[in-house]
Amino acid sequence: MAKDQIRKGRLDDERPAEVEAFLSSMDADREIAECDIRVDMAHILMLHEQNLIDTGSAKKLLQSLLRYMNEGLPKDAFNPAHEDIHAGIEAQLIKDAGADAGGRMHLGRSRNDEVATCLRMKTREYILQILSGLFDLRRALIERAEESTEVIMPGFTHLQHAQPTTLAHYLMSYENLFTRDADRLFDAYARVNRSPLGSAAFAGTGFPLDRERTALLLGFSGPMDNSMDGVANRDFILETISAFAILMTNISRMAEELIFWSSALVRFVTLDDAFCSTSSIMPQKKNPDTLEVMRAKAAYVSGELTAALTLIKGLPMSYNRDLQDLNPHLWCAAHETAASVPLLAQIIRTTVFDESAMKKSAKAGNTGATELADSFVREFNLPFRTAHNIVGRAVKLGSFDLAVIDEISEEFAGCKLSEKGLTQEFIDKVQNPKGIVKAKKTTGSPNPRLMKKAIQEADVRLVQDEVTGDILRDELDSADEKMKEAIGMLS
Ligand code: ARG
Repeated sequence: MAKDQIRKGRLDDERPAEVEAFLSSMDADREIAECDIRVDMAHILMLHEQNLIDTGSAKKLLQSLLRYMNEGLPKDAFNPAHEDIHAGIEAQLIKDAGADAGGRMHLGRSRNDEVATCLRMKTREYILQILSGLFDLRRALIERAEESTEVIMPGFTHLQHAQPTTLAHYLMSYENLFTRDADRLFDAYARVNRSPLGSAAFAGTGFPLDRERTALLLGFSGPMDNSMDGVANRDFILETISAFAILMTNISRMAEELIFWSSALVRFVTLDDAFCSTSSIMPQKKNPDTLEVMRAKAAYVSGELTAALTLIKGLPMSYNRDLQDLNPHLWCAAHETAASVPLLAQIIRTTVFDESAMKKSAKAGNTGATELADSFVREFNLPFRTAHNIVGRAVKLGSFDLAVIDEISEEFAGCKLSEKGLTQEFIDKVQNPKGIVKAKKTTGSPNPRLMKKAIQEADVRLVQDEVTGDILRDELDSADEKMKEAIGMLS
């Protein structure tokens, strides 16, 4: 008895076990087993509608497939003696529905268009799952930002104290970033969601397959235009992994920042114990391990992207077996991303921000210097560069005393600013962090009044994105329902 129904005509069925194992994608194909059942169902329904398979055979096949769907695939279908899950399911159908019915399923089809269709379906699932995690992460950031529009903290450039800002401004900068990650995933989804089914090996088929119909049954927005493109190209995977890699890079930055902020050097945050570990020797330790592992996972995902790009770059049209080895990179990238996003949302929700440490640090490192220079322009009509030099020299000398400023301004502006009305009180007041933040005029700045508006807008944007995500999910669910109805009508 031949082990593999595909090989037995053309090839000697006996192969060394290590060759079998080397060639089989069965392990990674567990990801697409359920999609493959649905692809088989859609193909059989369409073959029947096109009078390419008799009703009796179609019924037998669909009944078996429904059983696999409801009860799980028999173990044999996953036997790595089969090259892949497509061969495994076909063998199982031949066993369960008989050689005649089972042997009719693969008409006008190749594993090349079959696998490409399954991959697109599973990629859609992961995108929707990660999008919903991203929505929750954005919700967490928006909620924490709403309560912190007046929480003053230092902002950094070059990791040096730069200017005062607010915690809301900081949190919303990440919310904006994650919104673009969601945009990238929505964009990718639209290109993923086209059906290659009916492309056959690469050149289509002489049988009158209805590609629109299978696309509809599987929830795709339509069939792909070119059958060679349909089987050969995996840019939809490259694009998806790259959106995941960018997202994970962004997550890693935030993780790094929170790790830094939880250090005794900074102490802006206290992380919830749930996300920390201690030391086996140092009893005092509370380490931010979850964020550290998250930072490491980002490395995996960018590694997967590099592997995927490299794997594709040398492949001529059309299908090449190398493509099989692309898939595990997609699954790994999807798993790590899907695990990290909700964890970061939980961390954001549970982290305690130390408002007084932030406020205290907001003044460190002369963060009011820019505002002082700006005020010299406003009050005394100095060129900005002159004002910048005066304040810069004061910082260098380590003094904002009126007498010192006067001395410097004589050198740079040719006059004592006190003679134009500058007072010590003004110098001190203008550098107050809260006042500085409140005085910001430009949209996008941390001014609490503007920030509140920006947060409201982000909230509206998030609700719109959630609705779009629900619509995409509903499209898939209703396609599934319709396919089940069509199967029901047959039996
Ligand atoms: N397991 C294969 C993959 O993942 C399915 C397509 C096999 N096609 C072939 N001509 N050998 O790419």
